[in-house]
Amino acid sequence: MRIGLLTGGGDCPGLNAVIRAVTKSLIRQCGAEVIGIEDGFLGLIERRVRPLGWDDVSGILAMGGTILGTSNTASPFAWHGADVSAEVIAYQRALGLDALVTIGGDGTMTMAARLGAAGGVPMVGVPKTIDNDIAGCERSFGFDTAVATVTDALERVQTTGQSHGRVMIVETMGRYAGWIALEAGIAGAADVILLPEIGYDVAHIAEVCRARHARRRATLICIAEGAKPVGGAMTVERTVEGSPDPIRLGGVAHALRAQLQPLLACEVRATVLGHVQRGGSPTPFDRVLATQYGNEAARLLRRGDFGRMVTLQGGCLGSVALESVAGVNRCVPGDHALLGCAREIGVCLGDRDPAR
Ligand code: F6P
Repeated sequence: MRIGLLTGGGDCPGLNAVIRAVTKSLIRQCGAEVIGIEDGFLGLIERRVRPLGWDDVSGILAMGGTILGTSNTASPFAWHGADVSAEVIAYQRALGLDALVTIGGDGTMTMAARLGAAGGVPMVGVPKTIDNDIAGCERSFGFDTAVATVTDALERVQTTGQSHGRVMIVETMGRYAGWIALEAGIAGAADVILLPEIGYDVAHIAEVCRARHARRRATLICIAEGAKPVGGAMTVERTVEGSPDPIRLGGVAHALRAQLQPLLACEVRATVLGHVQRGGSPTPFDRVLATQYGNEAARLLRRGDFGRMVTLQGGCLGSVALESVAGVNRCVPGDHALLGCAREIGVCLGDRDPAR
């Protein structure tokens, strides 16, 4: 067997752990040859690959980033305005690949499903993203590490909030899903947690801050980059030409600061965490999950179970059809237990608590 392996989309803690587990499992299970494709789908377009042997993937388990490089702008269906998918498929055949492992988020899965349907070599997907928003999968690797990083940042920022009597706003990543802000907000004892899934009311948040200030000086707000005021729009930082998802969010913490400041006597400050959330070494949880995902992907390949993405559902490893996850976003459902839990311990979710 000759298997291609690529990492697509944004980098994420645990990518190297998956590369290691897929490669070692395939070599041990069936003596397969593994070909690393550089910079995601860009490597297939520009014909840049290298063999991955046992020693190439030894010692990379705890490394952040991806040894193969990645790209979130290269689409074989729209490369500088042209559809080069036929050339990419011909290159896969020329390499003699029996199958391709694509490690990525929903953009990568959508591309993988499209290439497969267009006659590309069969694929197996591994779900990666700190956003934890891939359909059919309750935990993507990288999420736990991002939550740990944001939790730590919230605790550090809280110190300044308490000392200076300020409202401190911390912005997380997450795109259109609020998982990072919700879990880190609870773990980091945020007083207000704002998610893309629940429109926020600035006047109500100001009331919460004033009431808290009268008692405890500081208010800690954890806001997801995709959060928006009721009836308002998301804060777009820029658009990236040619990217499968051209919109880059960012800056909502500063927008909220500007909206809140005139309503409050105390100072309001904003911190945008950005890519620190995607960097660094994966947590032990993510190392284990990434290793299990990589090992499971190798098992699917050996069984010839193609066109599937490895998943975790109900705490069990499994797989779902790639087409069923392509283009679908897994957001925080309105009845999610953590939302109820947060409200019951007095966390403001930006709206007036419907139960009070
Ligand atoms: O999807 C992962 C993610 O980190 C999002 O949380 C964020 O909106 C986006 O990628 C940022 O992408 P880039 O690194 O291209 O700015």
